[in-house]
Amino acid sequence: MKLLLMCLGLTLVCAHHGGNHDVVTSNFDMSKISGEWYSILLASDVKEMIEENGSMRVFVESIQVLDNSSLSFKFHMKVNGECTEISFICDETEEKGVYSVEYDGYNTFHITEAVYGDYLILYLSNVKNDEEAQVMEFYGRVFLCGYSP
Ligand SMILES: *[C@@H]1O[C@H](CO)[C@@H](O)[C@H](O)[C@H]1NC(C)=O
Ligand SMILES: *[C@@H]1O[C@H](CO)[C@@H](O)[C@H](O)[C@H]1NC(C)=O
Repeated sequence: MKLLLMCLGLTLVCAHHGGNHDVVTSNFDMSKISGEWYSILLASDVKEMIEENGSMRVFVESIQVLDNSSLSFKFHMKVNGECTEISFICDETEEKGVYSVEYDGYNTFHITEAVYGDYLILYLSNVKNDEEAQVMEFYGRVFLCGYSP
């Protein structure tokens, strides 16, 4: 079901833009990741994390690549019913293209697929109290009907 939703999202984005775009699946040019994004889909094997009040129910606004190669993410999320902005600095780990950030545990993530001007897919692993949860995030450059807080 999750996979199906992903595919549907992808089809929507592709259909929306038409034309041919290069799909990148490795050696990402992070400078091309910078800029505005919108969350389109979230999937997790721990559903509570992305449901209402879940810590991973965050909606991306932008990603910036910093001079030291760390990434700055801006998100908004609902806290006590209020839309609140949160931002994170994510440092690259020893593994190229894998970033980490402390938030509700320890998170590592990497991009699995991108068309720089259209969409990107992130895979994130969250470890808290020795338990691992996986989250897939699908971002688009344009706002679609998808998630909104
Ligand atoms: C990179 O720069 C940001 C902003 O100055 C800082 O918060 C972060 O800790 C730096 N990361 C590393 C790995 O030095
Ligand atoms: C989420 O949090 C709000 C505000 O604290 C609360 O009113 C609401 O019932 C919570 N929803 C769930 C599903 O826990």
